[in-house]
Amino acid sequence: MKVTVVGANGQIGKQLVHFLKEEDGYTPIAMVRKEEQADSFAEDGIESVLADLEGSVDALVKAFSGSDAVVFSAGSGGSTGLDKTLLIDLDGAAKTVEAAEKAGISRYVMVSAFQADNRENWNDELRPYYVAKHYADKVLMASGLDYTIVRPGGLLNESGTGKVKIGDKVEPGSIAREDVARVLLEVLGAKNTYGAAFDVVDGEDSIEHAVSKI
Ligand SMILES: NC(=O)c1ccc[n+]([C@@H]2O[C@H](COP(=O)([O-])OP(=O)(O)OC[C@H]3O[C@@H](n4cnc5c(N)ncnc54)[C@H](OP(=O)(O)O)[C@@H]3O)[C@@H](O)[C@H]2O)c1
Repeated sequence: MKVTVVGANGQIGKQLVHFLKEEDGYTPIAMVRKEEQADSFAEDGIESVLADLEGSVDALVKAFSGSDAVVFSAGSGGSTGLDKTLLIDLDGAAKTVEAAEKAGISRYVMVSAFQADNRENWNDELRPYYVAKHYADKVLMASGLDYTIVRPGGLLNESGTGKVKIGDKVEPGSIAREDVARVLLEVLGAKNTYGAAFDVVDGEDSIEHAVSKI
């Protein structure tokens, strides 16, 4: 399965690309926006494609062509303004959904955010970001794609435990970016996760087992 990772140069995206490279049956394609990022993936024997989420849907269709799946792990980050929250986290994500459909790709995995589906639980300071994630997820759910929406808790840059808690009503918590990348890898081929959306935080269950129960 050829998987285009949108946001491949990011902290989750980079780990996912490398896990996909090591996994039988998968070939990652790193979608990046700078030549030097593509060069760095090439040094590791990873194919990449240049495209920007602020560009056209047609350019994204071109970037996705030949892939079997798309994983969206891009984000505007905490140091940009609300304009980028709209342009990347909402419209950028929505454009990739549209592009995946136009490119004839059926599988799509979205990195969303903890409780993005539930306004009652949005942190006031991050409310605009949650609005963007909420509606990007809705666009994906309304599409004809075989989607899975993964909503991680607070992201940590530490080694993963390989153990998680997955569900709709899990207590707020955090999770290592490495574990999020492993969850994304696990759900990609898991048909039981098609049409599913769930929160995920650090927990007691192995990723394989937790995903198999979805
Ligand atoms: N922070 C949290 O606690 C938290 C919690 C839940 C969910 N999330 C979500 O988790 C996901 C990944 O997180 P992360 O920590 O891996 O993010 P990250 O390290 O900030 O990576 C985000 C990536 O998005 C790319 N990007 C930004 N604008 C782009 C554009 N216009 N076109 C193409 N790519 C663009 C960046 O590219 P460059 O490398 O070129 O800058 C970067 O590689 C995001 O969707 C985020 O919203 C975060």
